[in-house]
Amino acid sequence: MKISGFKLLRIIACAIALSACSGEPEDTRPGQPVAHRRQIFKQFTRTLEPMGMVARERKAFNRADFLASALELKQLVGQPWHYFLPDTNYPPSHAKPEVWLQPAEFKLAQDTFQSKANALAALARDGTIEDLRAAVNDVERSCKSCHKQFRNNS
Ligand code: HEC
Repeated sequence: MKISGFKLLRIIACAIALSACSGEPEDTRPGQPVAHRRQIFKQFTRTLEPMGMVARERKAFNRADFLASALELKQLVGQPWHYFLPDTNYPPSHAKPEVWLQPAEFKLAQDTFQSKANALAALARDGTIEDLRAAVNDVERSCKSCHKQFRNNS
């Protein structure tokens, strides 16, 4: 099979983006499920952060920007879960064994989070700033509550 130079560059760029630069072990498994899910979780944080700053009055409210962030989060909410494959709790993962031992509870935490993120996106178009603040808090709470149950060092 011939791989074009462009494709090869993309593969290398992805490998660099997904490798842990923090001295943690690299995810060398085929498909890099741990690296992929962590990458998406980081994207959660990057997307939520500007909305959190608005909610805490540390950033001016701009509805178009806020809406764009809320819609992006809505796009992301379903993405990490299929990377929690059986037998993928290996370094550098910070997942607790409960992810695999209590699948129904893990699914419930995903669903709660998803409904909070959807509610935020629905409000972002014309909700009041107070509504939006409450909706951002709900999303943040659902992140934290899942981490408490299912992530180490949280
Ligand atoms: C249903 C459970 C669940 C929800 C909801 C959830 N997370 Fe997580 N999150 C996890 C688990 C489990 C891990 C550990 C993954 C691993 O290391 O394999 C994690 C890891 C992370 C990480 C660390 C990524 C890294 O570099 O290791 C960040 C940041 C993060 N989550 C942010 C968020 C944010 C922000 C939200 C809400 C917008 C959120 N998460 C919602 C379960 C959840």
